Amino acid sequence: MLGLVISSTAFAAEDSVEAAGKARFMESCAVCHGPQAVGDGPYAALLNKKPANLTLLAKNNGGTFPFNVVYDSIDGRGPSGAHGTKDMPVWGSNWKGANAQGAETAVRGRILEMIIYLRSIQK
Ligand code: HEC
Repeated sequence: MLGLVISSTAFAAEDSVEAAGKARFMESCAVCHGPQAVGDGPYAALLNKKPANLTLLAKNNGGTFPFNVVYDSIDGRGPSGAHGTKDMPVWGSNWKGANAQGAETAVRGRILEMIIYLRSIQK
């Protein structure tokens, strides 16, 4: 009984994190990746490199969502991010902003929130 209550609370929490990730996706990512995340946003035509179809991340990785790769692509500050194109914004820096206190934790939260949303839209 208690387990049931706890797990349904966990589901509710995950739902709201997913909703927050979706809202931020529409605000920050859809312009390039498109509202359905298939890579057809209004900005896509202006870029040198086509924005990725973000619904195929798991499919293109043998059915497993490539958590670490996606984390690093969104963050963009690590060694693998440095190999990306300048067309994909460096969200780790954008989200960190000017105020350093607690900013790194906030960045991590935003990236994880986004990953929970992206994981939910895999085909
Ligand atoms: C200005 C356009 C633009 C915006 C805005 C943008 N992206 Fe991207 N994104 C790209 C491009 C272009 C690529 C392909 C880069 C490459 O292949 O080197 C990409 C690649 C990616 C990848 C790597 C996909 C793979 O196959 O490994 C992920 C994950 C991603 N974007 C997530 C996001 C998320 C999440 C947001 C919003 C927070 C976002 N992008 C916003 C242009 C954009």
